[in-house]
Amino acid sequence: MTQLNYNKSQKYKDLDTIYAQCSGPGGLRLSDFMAQKMGLRAGARLLDIGCNRGWQTCFLAKEYFVQITAIDPWDDRMQGDAMVEHVRRNARHWGVGNSVLAQKIGVPDTHFASESFDFAHSTTALEMVHGMQGKEGYMAALREILRVLRPGGVFGLGEPMHLDVAIPEDLLPHVSQPDFAWKDCFRDIHSTVEDIRNAGFEIVEAAHAPDARDWWLEYAAHDPFCKQNPDGDPKTLEIDAGRWTSFGYVIARKPE
Ligand SMILES: C[S@@+](CC[C@H](N)C(=O)[O-])C[C@H]1O[C@@H](n2cnc3c(N)ncnc32)[C@H](O)[C@@H]1O
Repeated sequence: MTQLNYNKSQKYKDLDTIYAQCSGPGGLRLSDFMAQKMGLRAGARLLDIGCNRGWQTCFLAKEYFVQITAIDPWDDRMQGDAMVEHVRRNARHWGVGNSVLAQKIGVPDTHFASESFDFAHSTTALEMVHGMQGKEGYMAALREILRVLRPGGVFGLGEPMHLDVAIPEDLLPHVSQPDFAWKDCFRDIHSTVEDIRNAGFEIVEAAHAPDARDWWLEYAAHDPFCKQNPDGDPKTLEIDAGRWTSFGYVIARKPE
């Protein structure tokens, strides 16, 4: 098993800023975790899928010295401008403007040439594709990621998932949100692995992240939408108390 350390992310201590610039559990520690699990190496070409405002993208470019194409098709919920505009501004702020290229596109319609990337990475994004477009859309996204990776290239997926148990009855109303209901978006590790394998990848490693609960609690305490609405996700996580909600990762390789 890979020995992990969080030396690169630990020095970024302002969690309010990190969670304001990211969108989901884990922040920069999640990116550090995924980078190490994927074996990210300096000079590699990385596709960051669903990069949001690109704070994690910039962290990876600065601390892992990778060349990143960051994609996100949506506009910012708070400010209304394109996510990729934030990515460009943040890349200048982090001093990695020459290593980050942001494009307003999403999977599966990327139009990149086949075999363009050494690594592809997505955190807390594809479960939303599953929620919106169902299994068919999710599989199309995975096949597109396979297409744009070079043979031997590595895909790292980090996603909110649930433990292998039924939804506790008292939690059910709280994970049935009107938009992106967790019960429709979150899946278990086994079905996620099966989908990634069926899309054509070889599975290297898959598990629940050891720090999943910490990441969720950090998100509940620092995400601006959570701070505005404590009866939303923070309440859900409090009622859940670690019984159902988790965070899983899958590291997969495109066959040579
Ligand atoms: C919850 S945010 C996660 C951001 C970040 N990766 C993180 O871990 O904090 C999910 C992002 O996925 C993006 N997204 C939605 N549909 C997508 C698609 N089809 N392809 C790529 N990204 C997509 C959204 O615009 C949003 O910014």
